Amino acid sequence: MNRNVRIVSLAAVALLVVGFVYLLAFPTSSDEKSNATPTGSASTVPLDRGSTVCQPCHADVYAEWKQSYHSMAFTDPEPRKPELSDDFKNKDCIPCHAPQPILETGIGNRALARLVFLDEGVDCLACHRVPGRVASVRSGMTAACNPIQTPALGTVEHCAVCHDQHNTVGEWRATDYAKSETDCLACHMPAVERAPLTPGGPKQKGRDHRSLAAHDPKLQASASRVDVSVAKDAVSIAITNERGGHNFPTDERHRAVDLVTTFADAAGRELAAHSERFRNPYRDEVGLVDTQIRWNETKRFRYDVPFGAKSVRVRLYYKLTPITPDAEGNLLLDRQETIP
Ligand code: HEC
Ligand code: HEC
Ligand code: HEC
Ligand code: HEC
Ligand code: HEC
Repeated sequence: MNRNVRIVSLAAVALLVVGFVYLLAFPTSSDEKSNATPTGSASTVPLDRGSTVCQPCHADVYAEWKQSYHSMAFTDPEPRKPELSDDFKNKDCIPCHAPQPILETGIGNRALARLVFLDEGVDCLACHRVPGRVASVRSGMTAACNPIQTPALGTVEHCAVCHDQHNTVGEWRATDYAKSETDCLACHMPAVERAPLTPGGPKQKGRDHRSLAAHDPKLQASASRVDVSVAKDAVSIAITNERGGHNFPTDERHRAVDLVTTFADAAGRELAAHSERFRNPYRDEVGLVDTQIRWNETKRFRYDVPFGAKSVRVRLYYKLTPITPDAEGNLLLDRQETIP
């Protein structure tokens, strides 16, 4: 071994020793935080090692979360596209797609990017961690994860930290739902019943952690009502945002809803087609205006029946992007009527 190599290895050993002594003297950050927590004993579940540590005891919730877009927020190919975050090389996109715990960075403050376990996206701790403990709905629970009742957990303000970029929360506030306390959870994390957490214990009331929305045709279809009235010379169509808790479609500017009306003759040959698009375009899409349907708003259309038409077909599509072809959109409604 030459002299230089020996000096380098001695230095490495010295660094290891120093590091070890440091770890003995200063415990990991989560222990530090729980030690500082005034009430309750420390969580024996590590709160700085991602979501998999929650899985053994909260298997149902974990399985639901795994299906959600929260768990996929960092691995989802959509935001990773080259023209979007370019595989999250655009660091501005990380704070909401792989956030630090929101209840620690603070409601009302901007979300901050996490540095570890990025692939877990919006993980359990992003919504549940408070210093040294997990935020729970109920009070007086004793468990390894050290739950503490935290009213902020289920509030609209909590969701708003990440979900108000395109004013979904503001839109919701303008509806009657906001007055009747039908909040984001009521529609997006509805109540479910779970097996007891402790053997022999009571059944648990829970919340659906799949957080369904823009990828769920059933929920999408629930937002609107379409009325079709057919006369000899014209067809009138009215579409109402009846149960969307906000504009329809809300949020992502690339979502689009298309109302497609076609007329056909006795042999089924298409004679005429009309298409209406409901969407909030990006600012740089010159010439396009916001055609989202406000809550409780009705948009009406009237089309002349072409000569020889015997039937009219009305379809409603929900599309994840404005360039999605009809065949790849979610078909929310498909109604056929005869012309009298
Ligand atoms: C060793 C098992 C165990 C692990 C690991 C665990 N928990 Fe728990 N947790 C429990 C039990 C048991 C309860 C219920 C206590 C009761 O009902 O009194 C509970 C309760 C909770 C509650 C409150 C439930 C309610 O009804 O309000 C939340 C939230 C929670 N855990 C989150 C987590 C998170 C997040 C993790 C991962 C960081 C985690 N837990 C890890 C066992 C565990
Ligand atoms: C302030 C928080 C926030 C920031 C910052 C943010 N996002 Fe998001 N993003 C969200 C939320 C919340 C959703 C889910 C809402 C939805 O699906 O409509 C979302 C959804 C998306 C989707 C839709 C995914 C799908 O499944 O179709 C894309 C694409 C996206 N974001 C790209 C980006 C890009 C690119 C950046 C950086 C330029 C970025 N986001 C920064 C909060 C944020
Ligand atoms: C830390 C940021 C953050 C918080 C807090 C948050 N979300 Fe999300 N949420 C996201 C991101 C990011 C996505 C989209 C991920 C993707 O598609 O790539 C998302 C997706 C969703 C979706 C699915 C949308 C779709 O396109 O299918 C729903 C529903 C949702 N969130 C509801 C909620 C509710 C309800 C709350 C409050 C309890 C909440 N979220 C809190 C960041 C957050
Ligand atoms: C987007 C935020 C968000 C994420 C991510 C999230 N939760 Fe929750 N969790 C909530 C909210 C909100 C509630 C219910 C609050 C209420 O009912 O007022 C809840 C309730 C719970 C409960 C008690 C009720 C039930 O459904 O059983 C447990 C346990 C729980 N979460 C564990 C977890 C675990 C484990 C993970 C990760 C696998 C996780 N949560 C991920 C927001 C979240
Ligand atoms: C009365 C039920 C209801 C309430 C309340 C509600 N929503 Fe929705 N939400 C829906 C329906 C239905 C859809 C699907 C149609 C659409 O996109 O508008 C949806 C879609 C979404 C989407 C997906 C849009 C996209 O671009 O991917 C997000 C995100 C969302 N809601 C967030 C929220 C938040 C945040 C709140 C609370 C401020 C909330 N919602 C309140 C019913 C509701």
